[in-house]
Amino acid sequence: MVKVSFNAALAQKDVKKDFETLIPAENRDTEAALVVRQRSRAWCWCVCLGIALFLSGVVVAGAYLYRYYVVEQDNEVFICGVNYHENDYMITEEEEMMEEQSFRQRLLQERIQVLVPDQVEIIHVPVPDFEDGDPADIVHDFQRRLTAYLDLSLDKCYVIPLNTSVVMPPTDLLDLLINVKAGTYLPQSYLVHEEMVVTERLENIENLGAFIYTLCRGKDTYKLQRRDRILGMQKREALTCHKIRHFENTFVVETLICEP
Ligand SMILES: *[C@@H]1O[C@H](CO)[C@@H](O)[C@H](O)[C@H]1NC(C)=O
Repeated sequence: MVKVSFNAALAQKDVKKDFETLIPAENRDTEAALVVRQRSRAWCWCVCLGIALFLSGVVVAGAYLYRYYVVEQDNEVFICGVNYHENDYMITEEEEMMEEQSFRQRLLQERIQVLVPDQVEIIHVPVPDFEDGDPADIVHDFQRRLTAYLDLSLDKCYVIPLNTSVVMPPTDLLDLLINVKAGTYLPQSYLVHEEMVVTERLENIENLGAFIYTLCRGKDTYKLQRRDRILGMQKREALTCHKIRHFENTFVVETLICEP
């Protein structure tokens, strides 16, 4: 609409110009007319400048809107929830306890962004409804084959090699999300546990790829290892742990991050 009205203004101006050139020369030979004409020319420049400024504004705003629209479309952001049960609690010895616990329902919601061209999944876990862990931002980078957890309660970053048997590849995850549809819930799911231990502090995070760098920049960043992969670590060794519950597959994963 804006463009159309601008075109109309231009067209009018052209008409005026044509009209000016049509006026016979003998009719505009007085000095007064000259001054008036110079003034009107100055006016014209002002108007042109104004129109140019206005137009550049329209172009910038248009570009912004267009980009915003495309970004939203491209980045495939999903708000997603899953109902799961904590079936692992069935290990408890008492029969009654087992019955009770096995029917405990949980709901986990998160925001998932799948960047298929970059082979990256970005997940935001908000503050959980129950006491089930910390809010977190998670990046799974399939090109770098790395996962990074930013624990938002501790403001600390943890990096570990990507486990592709837990994390669905971007295209598959996108298919899953599209099938489930944004805003709806995944079918009843279950919980898987994994336990990680901090092994060392990472000083250089520049070589972890742009996405993990962006996530962990300015945070204390540590390297993790699966606890069952660490030889000689006592199962009952007292560790300070925080958990993050998340999903990037058909099941929920509880990642326990422990510091020795
Ligand atoms: C990936 O996760 C699964 C399930 O937690 C585990 O059994 C497996 O050992 C893990 N693989 C690696 C390479 O850590």
